[in-house]
Amino acid sequence: MEYRSFPDGFVWGTATASYQIEGAAREDGRGESIWDRFSHTPGRVRNGDTGDVACDHYHRYREDVALMAGLGFNAYRFSISWPRVLPAGTGAVNAAGLDFYDRLVDELLANQIAPFVTLYHWDLPQALEDAGGWPRRATAEAFAEYAGIVAGRLGDRVRSIATFNEPWVVADHGYRNGTHAPGRSDPAAAIAAAHHLLVAHGLGMQAIRTAAPATPAGIVLNLAPQHPASPHPLDLEAASAAHDWLNRWYLDPLVGRGYPELPSWAPGGVRSEIQDGDMDLIAAPLDFIGVNYYNQSRVRSALLPPLGPAGDPPERTGMGWEVYPAGLAEVLEFVASRSGDLPLYVTENGAAYPVDEADPARDPARVSFLRRHLAVALDALERGVPLRGYFVWSLLDNFEWAQGYGPRFGIIHVDYPTLERRVRDSARFMGALARSGRLPLDDEVSTGGPPA
Ligand code: FCB
Repeated sequence: MEYRSFPDGFVWGTATASYQIEGAAREDGRGESIWDRFSHTPGRVRNGDTGDVACDHYHRYREDVALMAGLGFNAYRFSISWPRVLPAGTGAVNAAGLDFYDRLVDELLANQIAPFVTLYHWDLPQALEDAGGWPRRATAEAFAEYAGIVAGRLGDRVRSIATFNEPWVVADHGYRNGTHAPGRSDPAAAIAAAHHLLVAHGLGMQAIRTAAPATPAGIVLNLAPQHPASPHPLDLEAASAAHDWLNRWYLDPLVGRGYPELPSWAPGGVRSEIQDGDMDLIAAPLDFIGVNYYNQSRVRSALLPPLGPAGDPPERTGMGWEVYPAGLAEVLEFVASRSGDLPLYVTENGAAYPVDEADPARDPARVSFLRRHLAVALDALERGVPLRGYFVWSLLDNFEWAQGYGPRFGIIHVDYPTLERRVRDSARFMGALARSGRLPLDDEVSTGGPPA
């Protein structure tokens, strides 16, 4: 088999998020999060699924770290549950909650796995939503308090701290269309939330710099190419507007370029949530940007009739998302056009596919998906994009937000009734790559890893 090589020192990891895997929702003093409230509200999450138990990672983290180590990964990206650390969002710290992450970090280090921490992967303390949530500026100040506490405790041992995961999803799904917690559909609130997420990032960066001055700090954004569905000028315009809202709304302010034009669905007028000094605060220097990439969109103007099918239908994952590896280079190159030589990481990339019931360890479609995206990542790197690492989403099958436990994103299968983990072929594929840095040129599956 022929191979291409990634550079020495490349970071190879898997990624997860607290609410999606931890479970133990009411243990050791953890407070309620907006996802507890949302998932327990009938009709919000498919099948009525909740994160109450999830993968029970809170109790099984040692086993999970041992799996990563056995496979050969050298990094792990996980998020901290804010309500586990500060049950009411601000004020009293829950020592038991912070201790859990302390133990997790030590366990990772003992296994030569670098911890990449994300502070906010969507599980806002419910008390802060009750007080107004992200549309209210005080939530950003509360975030800075939380960021300082976590950075002070873990900053000496973690490899990096990201303030936010995908702020676009928080504002868009949480406050504009209401498909995610807290389930609000209020355009003005979404625009204010988006700004306060960036203010929270800026204040959080200051808190991290003070508490852990040597720890690299940054943010994780989701990007997806917004291609026009046809060359019609209205499709070009719709694609450009979608690009502004998804790909530029956070990135541009972070690099000092200010906000794009307001989306057409947003109320016009003065943006009263923007205070003096905010744009400088938001544009404070970063140490890295994480890029989450899954798919592209083909954008059709609402003013034009729907397009009929043309040609062969595109390849899709189990989520119905189009498989488009070239888009990974498109988004990396777009980010690098703004961030220059700032280190970039692919902090999420992966795919859900139905379980092979005959053998849940077999997942050739996922192996192929990952291999093809990694080839594109390597192309981008060879063209000069400062890509330093790649994290596959996800280590485990887990709670996929409003879709519940249906979609399976794990490179490790989880049998939910028993919580037993089973290593899939994709996990062995990624582990072999992490150990050797060598990417096979075709899809003849090399699993190469140790039996697990
Ligand atoms: C991303 C999220 C992650 C997971 C994947 C499939 O948007 O960051 O938690 O749900 O999508």
